[in-house]
Amino acid sequence: VGHIDDVQELKKKKTSQIPERFIRDTTERPTLDKPISYPCNINIPVIDFSKLVEGNRDDFCKEIMKLRTCCEEWGFFQVMNHGIDLDLLERIEKVAMEFFMMPLEEKQKYPMIPGTVQGYGQAFVFSEDQKLDWCNIETVDIYSREIRKLCKNLLKYIAITLSLNDDVFEEMFGVAVQAVRMNYYPACPRPDLVLGLSPHSDGSALTVLQQGKGSSVGLQILKDNTWIPVQPIPNALVVNIGDTIEVLTNGRYKSVEHRAVTHKEKDRLSIVTFYAPSYEIELGPIQELVDDKNPCKYRRYNHGEYSKHYVTNKLQGKKTLEFAKIKN
Ligand code: SIN
Ligand code: FE2
Repeated sequence: VGHIDDVQELKKKKTSQIPERFIRDTTERPTLDKPISYPCNINIPVIDFSKLVEGNRDDFCKEIMKLRTCCEEWGFFQVMNHGIDLDLLERIEKVAMEFFMMPLEEKQKYPMIPGTVQGYGQAFVFSEDQKLDWCNIETVDIYSREIRKLCKNLLKYIAITLSLNDDVFEEMFGVAVQAVRMNYYPACPRPDLVLGLSPHSDGSALTVLQQGKGSSVGLQILKDNTWIPVQPIPNALVVNIGDTIEVLTNGRYKSVEHRAVTHKEKDRLSIVTFYAPSYEIELGPIQELVDDKNPCKYRRYNHGEYSKHYVTNKLQGKKTLEFAKIKN
């Protein structure tokens, strides 16, 4: 990301001219004027996590069934009563904003290393084993640990929705890899011409997304050929199924395409945590989910190779998953 291509710097210039590099082909533009892309009466489902953790048998079963529907039909849901300290969610937002508000020269001391997911630019940052001296390490550390716990638990419940052993994913993943990506989208004078983030599915097993307080509604998911906005629910976290779970479930649970759009007046902050298997792990559809009616759709592959393939290609819908598809 060069100086002139930094969206925050552009905004400071107070120009309404959008540089060519940001203007999307007409087919890719977000068509914000068409009401069809904003069917605001449709919302992604909400899971009450406390019912899974401490609900009575009835509530637990109902919530598990709901979770199954979320995974089968949506690939996306919000989690309320997740048990993570709300104060911590506030602190991580503050840490993220403190970083983004630093002068460009400071942020550029941590440039993104091409072909990896580290640094400022395409700001992927690993939460473990990495130098993160540009911000409040402690908060990022505690936050990562809390989200990790949530992911482990969610995977247990997801296994239950598939009638599998509840530790099936945990056992398969080895020491799970976790990465945090912080997105800051400044308001844009022409949200109709640009995208905040290109359509893509996530290369993770699960993704947990926190939308900043007061941020614009920017996340949209593709369902039945329509882009549906994810309306933030205060204190809830957005969870989505990534490519790994699509492969492991042999396509029964889908990793859903999503994108971010910008807003004319409002900025947007999102803090995204990816949870994935260890790089050396070999993956393929789980045997129990493959039969005559559901023939094997994905080959076995090494997750490290998949990750490499993911980060060295541009975001392009669900194209990266072709890597694992069995062609016939
Ligand atoms: C993402 O897909 O990484 C996040 C999009 C958003 O800002 O909500
Ligand atoms: Fe994503």
